[in-house]
Amino acid sequence: MPDARLTLMADEPIGTISPLLHGHFAEHIGRCCNEGLWVGPDSSLPNIGGFRSDALAALKALGIPILRWPGGCYADSYHWRDGIGPLPSRPRTLGESCGLRVVEDNGLGTHEFIQLCRQIGAAPYLAGNLGSGSPQEMMDWVHYCNGELDTSLVRERAANGHPEPMNVRYWGVGNENWGCGGHYEPTDYAKEFRRFATFLRMADPTIELIACGHNTRDWNLKVVETLRHHLSYLDHLSVHQYYTAGPAAEFTESQYYQIMRAGALVEEDIRFTDEILRFFTAGRRFVGIAFDEWGVWHPEAALGCGYEAPNTLRDAVAAAGVLDVFHRWCHRVTMANLAQIINVLQCLIQTEGEAMWLTPTYHLFALYRAHRGAEALRVDLECPTVEAPALGTLWEAPHSAAPPLPLLSASASRKDGQVAVSLSNRHYNQPLEVAISVRGLRLGAGTLLTLTGDAPNAVNSVEAPERVRITETALSADGATFTFQVPPCAVQTAVLAAG
Ligand code: AHR
Repeated sequence: MPDARLTLMADEPIGTISPLLHGHFAEHIGRCCNEGLWVGPDSSLPNIGGFRSDALAALKALGIPILRWPGGCYADSYHWRDGIGPLPSRPRTLGESCGLRVVEDNGLGTHEFIQLCRQIGAAPYLAGNLGSGSPQEMMDWVHYCNGELDTSLVRERAANGHPEPMNVRYWGVGNENWGCGGHYEPTDYAKEFRRFATFLRMADPTIELIACGHNTRDWNLKVVETLRHHLSYLDHLSVHQYYTAGPAAEFTESQYYQIMRAGALVEEDIRFTDEILRFFTAGRRFVGIAFDEWGVWHPEAALGCGYEAPNTLRDAVAAAGVLDVFHRWCHRVTMANLAQIINVLQCLIQTEGEAMWLTPTYHLFALYRAHRGAEALRVDLECPTVEAPALGTLWEAPHSAAPPLPLLSASASRKDGQVAVSLSNRHYNQPLEVAISVRGLRLGAGTLLTLTGDAPNAVNSVEAPERVRITETALSADGATFTFQVPPCAVQTAVLAAG
């Protein structure tokens, strides 16, 4: 008897899983941008144009579909002109985000960021300054990057080494303006957004604008209601969610299960934001949800250590549940950006001096790669559950009892004659046997990738860079059924021929 059953409905496609759902975020905070990514061209560390060569290679190997920069909270005090022109002449400014105050030499500016994106194959997403900037300043940034006419700004861009337009398509208009981005009331922010958007679209009518949303119904409702007669400016509404459940690595079994609720938490944010958007757009316009910051925020990730914390296997398994939710809502969620790409919070890569290693979360994104650009298929799960406390967020303690937690999470997709099924076993210490049946397709041979480690709190480190890693085995399905033996605290992806 299997422990659980998964039915894959190949005849019930949900939509296309945009590669942008597997996006990332790089902020000038702690050792993310400076030191993690950017060491400068004169560094003794091997670098390509100032970016760490080892980090570039790892990011290129994974494929980064979209990268958001320069913040975060940093965005609303960033002035883009500080980061152009010859490196030695750039000003030394106050680099501020989330209470960190450092000297910022502006070595990593617009040109360098675009260069980074080109090297790793990412679409650039620039987060503009609404909080302390002006529509003119941001309009100039758009024109500087994307302008094609023979203006002074375009000439300046060419003189700085980029004669061709940079074609930056995604522009955030402020960041968390309900908090660090100026403590706006939602209606006031919406009016500011509308004013900025009017001028940004004059600079380049083809850009996509991301307005600041929130993980509260009240903010999203008031912002979208205020914009209801100007919806053409609104392409995406941003939502951020960070969750937390006890210490990063020394967690209890109960806290282990608690964090596995991350997917359900994120799904609730999507659900109410979707309702609000559908109500106010009333079929007149599609506005996407940009989940452009998400991930775990452990208590250790605090000001004093630049928001760094151990990244365990538990974090990666919880994140698999979030990616499954994004896949299920791929018809509504237009992008998602894990926070952050290197060293800070739930990162993909960690560095220490010359050393660099990949976190369990890096491997999770590699394991989910098969879903990018594929057609999401509906899955039905029958699985055991476990009692677990409700999950708290960075902003709010849990305030209600939570239903039993399903021990499995899954998503499936089809692309290029193959089906990919990802399945996480959230059980703390027991394997689960899962019988898979497929409706509307026949499956053949393929491969099975398994991500796990020797304990839920296993981390990778300079001493043990492969304690958590992916292993690959061959797998065959006899047409319409096959079985997964999923180890405890593990994620698997099967990629099978489909006909
Ligand atoms: O990712 C760290 C910070 O978290 C970002 O600067 C801010 O947007 C969020 O509160």
